[in-house]
Amino acid sequence: MDTQLARLHRGAPPQEDSFADNLLEGLAKAPKEIACKYFYDEAGSRLFDAICDLPEYYQTRTETALLARHAGEIAALIEPGAEIVEFGAGSLRKARILLDALDNPRAYTPLDISGDYLAGVVQSLAAEYPTLTLRPMVGDFTGPLDIPTLPDNPRRAGFFPGSTIGNFRPDTALCLLRRMRSGLNGGGLLIGVDLVKDPSRLHAAYNDAAGVTASFNKNLLARANRELGADFDLGAFAHYAPYNAGAQRIEMYLVSLRRQRVSLRGQLFEFAQGEPVHTEDSHKYTIESFREMAARAGFNPRAVWTDEERLFSVHWLESR
Ligand code: TRP
Repeated sequence: MDTQLARLHRGAPPQEDSFADNLLEGLAKAPKEIACKYFYDEAGSRLFDAICDLPEYYQTRTETALLARHAGEIAALIEPGAEIVEFGAGSLRKARILLDALDNPRAYTPLDISGDYLAGVVQSLAAEYPTLTLRPMVGDFTGPLDIPTLPDNPRRAGFFPGSTIGNFRPDTALCLLRRMRSGLNGGGLLIGVDLVKDPSRLHAAYNDAAGVTASFNKNLLARANRELGADFDLGAFAHYAPYNAGAQRIEMYLVSLRRQRVSLRGQLFEFAQGEPVHTEDSHKYTIESFREMAARAGFNPRAVWTDEERLFSVHWLESR
């Protein structure tokens, strides 16, 4: 297989180069912040896989079961010979469930900021799906989507599992859905969305007993130490992830446990005792509130699947 991966944005540098810039900018802000897309270096991706297996983290397990249970219905909604465009190649397990259920899928086009990750994806799928065209594209799917059409112009279907849509603020999520809709050239979108529920259940999912989510959050600082020569003291920051019921979102922070100074690329950053650094939000929706947003983005919300406990939802949105 050709190892030269296509770029999603012509001429743009891969997003992974800009961790330093983002960090310098985010730590100079008040309040301080670090963008969540930098969670996923190799160590971060491994920690995230561990999160998905945690007893408290119901999302992955529930969504995977929903996809498997309704694979036949999903396949009937997506036309035969479709090109599947996945936004952020997350779990191959979910993609496989979809690809296996579909009628003669024409192509699989995963978009991800990590070229290394995509190379791995292609390597594991190539032998398994010999008739499927694999078109990995490196880039940030929140930017413009220049996905060249295949010569035979197959119908596209988007795949956006993992409730990643919840990691964007609702106004940004709306813009993102609009862009996806136009990038899909009239094709529909299969999207997983975590639901509003008992706050204690949500709290537990992001504050696991084994502390894996804490390590995942702190990996941002570890990564800055590894890659950029920063001197964050990992023991001097705490993982803090409360559920904001009014805003219907989990908010994730790293809180400085003492007054301290951190050096990064020749600059010093001051942290007050108790000062938070915002790292991520995870917005929750009701089935109705999500369908409303999808409709505002120009989709026609059609089928929706949920589990008995109504923990998670999978939506099929048609373009209109
Ligand atoms: N999108 C999922 C969620 O918000 C997965 C995820 C992203 C996540 N970042 C995370 C899970 C940080 C735990 C911690 O739940």
